Parts: sequence; structure tokens; C-alpha cells
Amino acid sequence: MGKIIKIAGPVVVAEGMRGSMMYEVVRVGEERLMGEIIELEGERATIQVYEETAGLKPGEPVAGTGAQLSVELGPGILKQMYDGVQRPLEVIRDETGTFIKRGVDVPALDREKKWEFTPLVKKGDRVVEGDFLGEVPETELIMHRIMVPPGVSGKVVEIAKEGSYTVEETVAVIETPAGRKEVKLMQRWPVRRGRPFKEKLDPSEPLLSGQRIIDTFFPVAKGGTASIPGPFGAGKTVMGHQLAKWSDAHVFIYIGCGERGNEMTEVLEEFPHLEDPKTGKPLMERTVLIANTSNMPVAARDASVYTGITLGEYYRDMGYSVALMADSTSRWAEAMREISGRLEEMPGEEGYPAYLASRLANFYERAGRVVTLGSEERIGSLTVIGAVSPPGGDFSEPVTQNTLRITKVFWALDASLADRRHFPAINWLRSYSLYLDSVAEWWKEQVGEEWLELRNRAMALLQKEAELQEIVQLVGPDALPEKERIVLEGARVIREDFLQQNAFHDVDTYCSADKQYKMLKLMLEFYDLANDAVARGVAARDIAELEVKDDIARLKYVPEEELDRAIEEIRKKMKAQIEALAKEER
Ligand SMILES: Nc1ncnc2c1ncn2[C@@H]1O[C@H](COP(=O)(O)OP(=O)(O)O)[C@@H](O)[C@H]1O
Ligand SMILES: [Mg+2]
Repeated sequence: MGKIIKIAGPVVVAEGMRGSMMYEVVRVGEERLMGEIIELEGERATIQVYEETAGLKPGEPVAGTGAQLSVELGPGILKQMYDGVQRPLEVIRDETGTFIKRGVDVPALDREKKWEFTPLVKKGDRVVEGDFLGEVPETELIMHRIMVPPGVSGKVVEIAKEGSYTVEETVAVIETPAGRKEVKLMQRWPVRRGRPFKEKLDPSEPLLSGQRIIDTFFPVAKGGTASIPGPFGAGKTVMGHQLAKWSDAHVFIYIGCGERGNEMTEVLEEFPHLEDPKTGKPLMERTVLIANTSNMPVAARDASVYTGITLGEYYRDMGYSVALMADSTSRWAEAMREISGRLEEMPGEEGYPAYLASRLANFYERAGRVVTLGSEERIGSLTVIGAVSPPGGDFSEPVTQNTLRITKVFWALDASLADRRHFPAINWLRSYSLYLDSVAEWWKEQVGEEWLELRNRAMALLQKEAELQEIVQLVGPDALPEKERIVLEGARVIREDFLQQNAFHDVDTYCSADKQYKMLKLMLEFYDLANDAVARGVAARDIAELEVKDDIARLKYVPEEELDRAIEEIRKKMKAQIEALAKEER
């Protein structure tokens, strides 16, 4: 048992910590606050405390637990709302948000609840790490697989009968070279270590989000990484919610990290009422929320990020596709800065610790599409999306810059777009995706041959628009030849009728890949017809005023089942109306 000798905000130094290890969880003070050793020199340990340290005094005891910061893995994770160290939030709501009494030791998984277990192996079977021993319907949407833990393989000498068991009951015994190993519905894993897999594969399938600017223009692949930086009010949180609701992942993990208490309270209140659009079941059936508001101690933010990603890896290991959003990684970086400052470490850029870059890299590195452990070929994926909130929206600051170097997709939110109510306020000229080529094959096979071509044509039109707008600013619109005015017209259609998407509109909130493809194809057809007409002498202004343009603008609100008919009609109308203009000209 050690003793506190110094307290500096969330950081406590204790002496007499013989036999402790790095990253060991300790209980600090009379109130037994939860902490983690982050520096160890001889018998002196520096501890980051995950709970408010006010009132703590030197001389109070510090007790080791012998275990590293770990999560409990087993049925009962889904539908949960956890704090940063996986304590289920006793949701107490007031203006300050959500909190838990200090020093409370609440297990992550319910110890009483019984789960229906069905064995998938027999006595005498040989199993290796990652093999499924049995399954438990965890929610109506997700079948939970009980896996042979990493590092264990051998012969099944006992396996539980079909029936109901608590997470602490043994459901299998495996004879291994190192002795008998009991397996329960629940296992543990230290959060700072990535869970093992066999092989990382190249991402090839898009994680569809139903958001047009993402799926068509800047796609993220299943198992990939993306960042969404933007100033306050630009739309990071709304995008996080859209991804949680609509992305075609089996399991979604939302880490609310250090954002304002009321924002997180909104999430905690809103999510339990959301419906999974694909199944009509509550969205929470496939969701885990981890909440760390800005009024919680900063150290807990660090823990929440690792807790979240470890839960993600665990469902990935079952063969699921998992998506994780951390909102916001800037608050996490600020926590690192504060802790590092308390440790009196040499500060790097803007006071962030020198290890900021490597911490961020290690976090995103845990994303991936992998061949999981287990004797049968199984593929799972974990997609990681990080919101970044640079102060003042300045992307040159260290967190944004370091994140940019790591993530392969960049959705650049733009305050001026948000001010103009162009949502999602993702700047199409500054954003990029390095997965375009990897997912193009999927689009071609599943949706339409011309996907990449359409996307690139639309993008070129938008780029041309930006160039022309510079000229317009200098010399006024009248200086542009007709051929270029029609470029502006074509780009406007893409921008307003395709890129803009209202998250709060019943139909527009989600757009299938098929609908995205058909919309874009039609819009480019319109542009081609308009371009031809202009070449035949029609004025760009007359085309801009065509009635069919309203129909094109309304396309996003057309429900999927009426889409084909609507498109056919627009196609006819648009040809007729443009042809009529061309005739007048002759
Ligand atoms: N896709 C969208 N559709 C409609 N409105 C949006 C959209 N994205 C953002 N908004 C508007 O912008 C506001 C701020 O977005 P929010 O996600 O809370 O910003 P941030 O998390 O970046 O501070 C929202 O409350 C909403 O009114
Ligand atoms: Mg936000």
C-alpha cells in the first residue's frame, strides 16, 4: 500500500508503490478513486485519476489492483451507456450533465442477468484462439459470439448445455498445454493493447453512410480511417449521429469525448428513442455510447478513447463490421496536454506533448479490415472516424495536422458553408478520400458501371466552377462566355441539389447508393444537354430558368420507391424543354 505525496489536479504522485506495474489500475485515497499508473520510478508512481480529485490529501493511501486498465467483454455491452472506464452511467441528468458518485465500483456487465447460451462445439473438439464456442443473442439485432480467448488453444473438455448463464459462470473448459482454462461468457482485455488478429487486408468495400457527399464524393472504406475537422457549429456532431443511424455497420460505437455536458446529455436522451432504419428496432440494439463530458475529469477522456476502441475490436473479432466515432479527438488531445503539463514534461508544439502524434497514430492504427483469429476464415472490420475541433477552425494547428497525416479520408467542415446553411458543410474542394480507387470496383459491380466517371466529372465541374467564380469576382458575370456560364449552372445543380442534404428531412436524411448514382447521372445528363443547347445558340440564362430544374431540385425528397418513375419523367421533360429552347433559336 502506497501513500499520496502530491496532488496536482488529475495527477497524483504516490510513494511506497513497490511491486506496481505501468498502467496498473490503482485505488486512490480513502474514497478509493479510480486511477492508472502512467509513470513509475522505483517505488514512486505517477497516477492519472479518472475521478474528481478535490478533497484528496497527502498521506491518504493508494492501493494497487494488480490489473491493467481493462474492459469487460461479453454480452450486455450493446445498448449500454458507459463512462470512460466502462462504468454503466447511472443517468442522472441536470444542467451539468451526467455523473457518477466518486469511488463507485459498478461492474460493466450485469452480474445477475442470465443469457441464453447455445454451444457451437462438442466435448473433445479441438479449438484455437478466436474459435466460436457458443453464441448468445445479445440483442434482437446482434448475435454475440463467445470466443476462445487470444492465446488459448487445446481440447474442449467441458462445454455447457444450451441454457441460461450469467457472465461469470463457466461455459467451457479447454485443456491446453499450460493447463485447464475456464471460459466464461465474460472475458477481459487491457485497453491499451490492440486485440490480435491474423492479417490486415486492404479495405475494398465502402462504409455506406447514406450521405451523398460522403458516399459519392469522399467515401470511407470499411476498416478505414476518416477525420472530420471543423469549428464549433459546423456539423461534426450531426454527422456523427447520421453515421450512427445510417452507416451500414453492424455495430456502432459513439465516444462522446469531452464535449459540453448538455451536448452529451442530448445524445444520451436522443439515442434511446432512435429507430434503426433498416430493421425498425431501437438503434441502441446495435449501439454503445461512451460519454465523457467536459465536466468530467480530463484523464477519463483518455480512458474513454481506449475503452471504445477495444469494444470495437471485440465485435470486429466476431466477424462484424464495426464503426466508431470519437467526438472530439481535440478534447482528448487537450487532456493529454493537461496531464503532460502536470507531469512537467517538455512541451511540444502549442504545449501538446511530443507523443501527441504517436498516440493519435496508435489509435487510428487500430482500425482495419482483418482476418480474425479462429480456424475458419472470418473477416471483420473496424472503421474509425475522428471529429476534430480546431480552435477557431484553424486547420494548421497540431491536432488537425497530425490527424491529417494519419487518416485516409478528410471531410473538411467549413464555417462559411454552415453560415450559408449549406449542409453538410463539407468543403468539396478541400476534402479528399484515398479510398476512391479501392471502393470503385464495389460501386461498379453493385450499383453502376459509370460510378467513378460520374463522380470525377461532377468533381471537375465543381473545380471549374471555383475557378470561374474567381474570374467573376474580378470582372463580373457578364464577362463570361455562354459556354462557361453553363458550367456555373451545371455546378450549381450538383452543389445545391446533390451535395446539400438535410439531416432533419424524413426522406433526404438518407440516400441509398442506388439513388445517389441515379441522381448524379441525371444531373450530368442535364448538364450535357444544356451544354449542347448553348453550343447551338441557346442562352445560358434561359436554361437556368427552365421549369424542369425545380423537378431536379426536388429529386432528393422523392422516396426510393418512386424514384425511377420520377427520373423517367424528368428525363423526358428536360429533353423536351431544352429542345424547345433550341427550336426557338433557329
Ligand atoms: N446535415 C445537416 N442538415 C441540417 N442541418 C445541419 C446539418 N449539419 C449541421 N446542421 C446544423 O448545424 C448545427 C450545428 O451542428 P453540430 O453538429 O452540432 O456542430 P458541431 O458538432 O461541429 O459543433 C446543427 O444544430 C444543425 O442545425
Ligand atoms: Mg459537436
